[in-house]
Amino acid sequence: MKNSLAIIIGFLIVGSLFVGWKISQDLGPAETATAPQPQTESASKEIGFNPPSMEDVPDGPLGESIKYGHELVMETNTVADEYVGNNLSCASCHANGGTVMEEAPMVGLSAVYPEYRPREGEVYTLEDRINGCMIRSMNGKMFPTDSKEMRAMIAYLQYMSEGVPAGADLPWRAPKEPKQYPVPSVEDGEKLYAQSCASCHAADGSGTGTNTGPAVWGENSFNDGAGMSRMTKMAGYVQKNMPKGQGGTLSDQQAIDLAAFILSHDRPEFEGHEATGRKAGDRQTSWIRKNASKSKTVQSIGKQFSRLKIKTSRNPAPAFAGAGFAYNSPLYNVR
Ligand code: HEC
Ligand code: HEC
Repeated sequence: MKNSLAIIIGFLIVGSLFVGWKISQDLGPAETATAPQPQTESASKEIGFNPPSMEDVPDGPLGESIKYGHELVMETNTVADEYVGNNLSCASCHANGGTVMEEAPMVGLSAVYPEYRPREGEVYTLEDRINGCMIRSMNGKMFPTDSKEMRAMIAYLQYMSEGVPAGADLPWRAPKEPKQYPVPSVEDGEKLYAQSCASCHAADGSGTGTNTGPAVWGENSFNDGAGMSRMTKMAGYVQKNMPKGQGGTLSDQQAIDLAAFILSHDRPEFEGHEATGRKAGDRQTSWIRKNASKSKTVQSIGKQFSRLKIKTSRNPAPAFAGAGFAYNSPLYNVR
């Protein structure tokens, strides 16, 4: 009894000492708050792009999870085969696991999610965004939030966000409004594709390997609900990064021609279109095809995942001639 009383009193004394110390700590900076603080100001504005090396992952269960997350991101279609509906990995677009600044980087994301998006009127978590890419870009199923896979991806992305302060503005994140592109020519895109892209992505678009040249169309590519299936988004990505190793060499015209050519081919259809209020007829793939076939320029071969052979010098997008491509046209207003 006596002993425990002494312990309690001891705690109270130590506790009040701590509170006193804490108050003086809290008051300390307040006294100097008027002094200029250029250090913190600039630090929060210029965040460096420094993804940590996978070599430095700590040992133990957390480290194991981070490594598993890295494996999942690099080899999604084999490691998470039962969830993925095509031949892609996350790294097919988020190059080298999201560690390349120009290619859809995933560095710092744990610091910016959850995020409110006014257009959708929704707060998105990092899990939502991962699953968004799972059902669209990976043409697959969502990872349950409590699955080993989702935990590992979150652990990996958290690791990739090391040192990035919460709420930071990441300068390397994609701009919300894609830039305007000129009216595309599918035929020019077809020629350029054969010259500069087919060696890695195959003449029939089916690819040569998940991380060496992923499928750009056909049943093993992303579905038509994916961000990459927006013509301007793909043009932007291609212009920044392709041909691999020669990013920044294509003109606006070449980039949009390539995007139009690639997106004029069939790919899996996103099952959630109805839920998002988009009709099948609104798809840009079918739009390109419908308009092009009106001028008898496109031949459909086969049925479900038929390839389309483009044999025309006609502009595939006459309705937009001279208008430039606006982000908010119905053609692009798809995820
Ligand atoms: C076919 C290409 C493609 C594949 C494959 C893909 N993504 Fe994405 N992902 C994108 C694009 C494009 C965006 C940007 C969308 C936008 O601009 O709104 C994106 C955005 C994201 C974001 C949000 C990034 C941000 O800055 O807010 C996360 C997280 C993400 N992807 C995770 C994944 C994961 C995990 C996988 C694998 C399971 C994956 N993605 C597979 C193309 C892809
Ligand atoms: C030397 C091989 C190589 C060449 C040539 C090449 N790519 Fe790629 N491409 C890749 C690799 C590898 C990726 C996966 C992401 C990464 O690692 O950069 C990729 C990813 C892509 C993606 C996103 C993933 C997907 O499946 O849709 C598109 C779109 C794309 N390339 C288009 C093109 C276009 C258009 C050209 C021609 C201008 C081209 N690429 C030339 C290797 C290549």
